[in-house]
Amino acid sequence: MTVKRKRKRRFRLPWQNTGTQRRRRRRRKVRKEVWYALAAVLVLALLIFVPNHIRTKKLKELGYTKPVIKEIKKQKLSRVLLDNNYYSAYLADSIMDGTVNTDYLPLYTLVQSGGSLNADDFLLWNRLEDKGYEEDQLLNLFGHLRFWEMTPLLVFDYQYNEQPYIDDCIAHADVNSPSSFTLSGSYFVPYGAARPTVDPHSSSAIVNKTYYLAPDFEPTDLTELSIYYAATGRMLSKTGADALAEWCNAGRNVGVTFYATSAYRTYESQESIYNSYVQAWGQEEADSLSARPGHSEHQTGLVVDIAATNEDNVSEFKDTLAYRWCSKNSADYGWILRYPEGKEIITGYQFESWHYRYIGKDLALKLQESGLTYDEYYALYLKPFDDETLIPKDNVLEGTNYAAPSAEEN
Ligand code: DAL
Ligand code: ZN
Repeated sequence: MTVKRKRKRRFRLPWQNTGTQRRRRRRRKVRKEVWYALAAVLVLALLIFVPNHIRTKKLKELGYTKPVIKEIKKQKLSRVLLDNNYYSAYLADSIMDGTVNTDYLPLYTLVQSGGSLNADDFLLWNRLEDKGYEEDQLLNLFGHLRFWEMTPLLVFDYQYNEQPYIDDCIAHADVNSPSSFTLSGSYFVPYGAARPTVDPHSSSAIVNKTYYLAPDFEPTDLTELSIYYAATGRMLSKTGADALAEWCNAGRNVGVTFYATSAYRTYESQESIYNSYVQAWGQEEADSLSARPGHSEHQTGLVVDIAATNEDNVSEFKDTLAYRWCSKNSADYGWILRYPEGKEIITGYQFESWHYRYIGKDLALKLQESGLTYDEYYALYLKPFDDETLIPKDNVLEGTNYAAPSAEEN
């Protein structure tokens, strides 16, 4: 039989501590530090994991799927999407394929199934913003209207309440199209916010019921037109004269003849024409037929009123073969039909089958492609921004016809 001997605990005074005790105390201290570290890791994990988990859950609730959420996190978009409840299937697709433009997230939320956005939409958004529209107004407009229903707003006055315009467009949705646009209301006070034409010597210079030329503006290189192409004594800028000759000659090569019956007009000659219209028809009708002095494109030296023969009245031009050929082929020679049928409320003038403006071949072809009036095209692609901070980023502008106005001479 073995007897367990009881170990005697030896009492020691503090100054009599052994090495073993010191080691034990050190071990206890190390163990405490490990626990603290583990607790810190746990708290940190909770701080990261829980909000991350909540974000994932909320993004799922908005409609995003797991792979999209992964992309959203990678692109650091969680906060902006959740703070604003931004979701659309198109937005999700655009995030997924990496094409989303984060400057226009609210716009993405408006895209209906099958729809899409392009750089022109982004540019239009900024242009309307430059005109004074607030984000809630823009969302209302883009949420209800098509691109070509909104571009006239660039020409019209700023609408403090955009809803009547939207309602008017919707009321005419069945009859309106990109080539014909009518409304019941009036959204523009002609000559109400007039400003000088930017770069008046440029072949792209705009002159309309907003932009005007100074009374003493004159093209720098006025040239008398040959009677082969025009009525006696008519003049254009050299650029206009050369372009008219090229266009007329192309017509003649296929058996079509036409002549300029009116071309460059001084401020004073426009004034007397306008006044005679007012006398004959009253001011309202006159304003739909003739420009007020300073507001006529004829003063640029880049405009012709054409007729099928040298004696013809221009008003008969639309019934001629020459009109059919000219209206179809003008852009190839740099000329545009400036006041087309169906766009009267945008140009502010009745249809003028005879009035052609030279803007240069590249621009004329782009304008034709756009289907816009030159007033809209200018306001969208050529006009200098009033607020330069609203100029879209280069990657947007590169996808559009945007071109800062140049100082080229005509
Ligand atoms: N008839 C055009 C609008 C003009 O007077 O310039
Ligand atoms: Zn004219």
